[in-house]
Amino acid sequence: MASSTNNHFTSVLLSFLFILKKLSSLGNHSSNDGILLFSPKHVVIYNTLTSRATLVVHCVNKEKDLGIQKLPIGASFDFRFRVNLRKTTTYNCTFEWPGSIEKFDIFRADRDDNETSPIGICRECIWYIYEPAPCREKRDGGHSICFTWDR
Ligand SMILES: *[C@@H]1O[C@H](CO)[C@@H](O)[C@H](O)[C@H]1NC(C)=O
Ligand SMILES: *[C@@H]1O[C@H](CO)[C@@H](O)[C@H](O)[C@H]1NC(C)=O
Ligand SMILES: *[C@@H]1O[C@H](CO)[C@@H](O)[C@H](O)[C@H]1NC(C)=O
Repeated sequence: MASSTNNHFTSVLLSFLFILKKLSSLGNHSSNDGILLFSPKHVVIYNTLTSRATLVVHCVNKEKDLGIQKLPIGASFDFRFRVNLRKTTTYNCTFEWPGSIEKFDIFRADRDDNETSPIGICRECIWYIYEPAPCREKRDGGHSICFTWDR
């Protein structure tokens, strides 16, 4: 009995995954990223401070501490992960340069992995760090979008 229930469950799960895979291979790949389970993400952070100072970046999420990264002007730091099933994945960072320390959530599933978010989904999430704001490049190559620091 129990094993036939299990088999049924497995086949329902498999057809569900099959349908998801089918959907994600249709049409525009990037616009379908949001329906993929555990969508893979690549976050890249560039030091583009106009003062050309060294940028000290420290990013954490609930499970991981990505360590303290010292980026000379023009250098970058990147990391890869998959969005969790509940789509609550967040990475928050501090950004320090002489005279300033700012905070920003460099990845939020509700902003960066959400079809209806105004900024759209990024798979390659490229960030440029300027003194007044962190800016994310748009995947279609248009203008990048700047945010305000979290206080
Ligand atoms: C896919 O999206 C890109 C960028 O948003 C767009 O330039 C392209 O025309 C789209 N392709 C299709 C097949 O819709
Ligand atoms: C950012 O990370 C710190 C340390 O883990 C945590 O205490 C804080 O609540 C986080 N902030 C946000 C907005 O997630
Ligand atoms: C997606 O973004 C919209 C608009 O910002 C927001 O209302 C909604 O709650 C977000 N959805 C998720 C699952 O985070």
